[in-house]
Amino acid sequence: MSASTTAPVNVTVTGAAGQIGYALLFRIASGQLLGPDTPVRLRLLEIPQAVKAAEGTAMELDDCAFPLLSGIDITDDATAAFDGANVALLVGARPRSKGMERGDLLEANGGIFAPQGRAINAGAADDIRVLVVGNPANTNALIAQAAAPDVPAARFTAMTRLDHNRAVGQLAKKLSVPVTEITKLTIWGNHSATQYPDLYHAEVNGKVAAEQVDEAWLRDTFIPTVAKRGAAIIEARGASSAASAANAAIDHVHDWVNGTPAGDWTSAAIPSDGSYGVPEGLISSFPVVSRGGAWEIVQGLEIDEFSRSRIDASVAELNEEREAVKGLGLL
Ligand code: NAD
Ligand code: LMR
Repeated sequence: MSASTTAPVNVTVTGAAGQIGYALLFRIASGQLLGPDTPVRLRLLEIPQAVKAAEGTAMELDDCAFPLLSGIDITDDATAAFDGANVALLVGARPRSKGMERGDLLEANGGIFAPQGRAINAGAADDIRVLVVGNPANTNALIAQAAAPDVPAARFTAMTRLDHNRAVGQLAKKLSVPVTEITKLTIWGNHSATQYPDLYHAEVNGKVAAEQVDEAWLRDTFIPTVAKRGAAIIEARGASSAASAANAAIDHVHDWVNGTPAGDWTSAAIPSDGSYGVPEGLISSFPVVSRGGAWEIVQGLEIDEFSRSRIDASVAELNEEREAVKGLGLL
């Protein structure tokens, strides 16, 4: 079987030897990221100590004989990894270690995402699209974006699609309906425990979701379950979510490139244009559609008092993170 003759799309993945990387690379190479007609060339960026493990994953990719995989480059040099990149999945990040304050975490990640932003600025393709997965994802995306002044700001996004998918899954389970009956769900704000999964605009079979569940469940069970799901997975698995995170990254980029279905929207953290009172420039999660290869914020939703207070709380946290990284000279 021969793959398409179109030029391969360069997809750079950082943290390629990590657990999300392992769940992600095979799906990209099999065509699930960009579609069955688009060949891909993988560029794997790792720290020097993990390059050998990335080489092992590359051996396994070779052993799959994926028709769409036109090549694999492995490097510990960010400049080489992002040279000509069309899609960049920034997965590798510095995890919080014991005793580490939030400021230390932001500073450590600044040391990763600022140089990667500069490398994207220097060499990525004109159509580069960046998805930041590594935590704290929204603010890491802001750091990378600030280091890439020649790249349109809107090309830097952070992942809240996992939160979105989790919310759809929880609601479908509660109502015993297929996930396909749930539309227009929104995650607002930060990929953190302050995020706000919104059922007041979501629909189940065309009817307002919030009206299908009781308010106590929505406020005291649904919201905290979705917002703290990452921690619950860590508690259960002894490691953070990996296959579901990789799946969400695939969904995010797939929809960004190919468009979202008519009559629905999804959630992504993108630079605010001031919509819904979110300060301009913050990379915050919104209801979004993708049209012509670009994310657009869904406009005109009425925000009630409860939703307003939840959105404001998460946005306040994003603002604090932005101030903290400004204080570190990263913006
Ligand atoms: P992991 O520790 O298994 O892998 C991380 C990899 O990144 C490691 O192989 C490490 O060597 C590499 N790395 C570290 N610094 C790097 C650098 N400067 N350049 C290139 N590679 C580098 O972690 P994981 O489970 O794959 O998770 C990765 C990140 O994704 C974490 O920050 C995690 O918190 C985050 N995450 C985000 C979401 C989300 O929804 N946004 C969901 C799950 C996990
Ligand atoms: C998740 O939502 O699963 C992760 O962001 C959790 C984490 O801290 O890695």
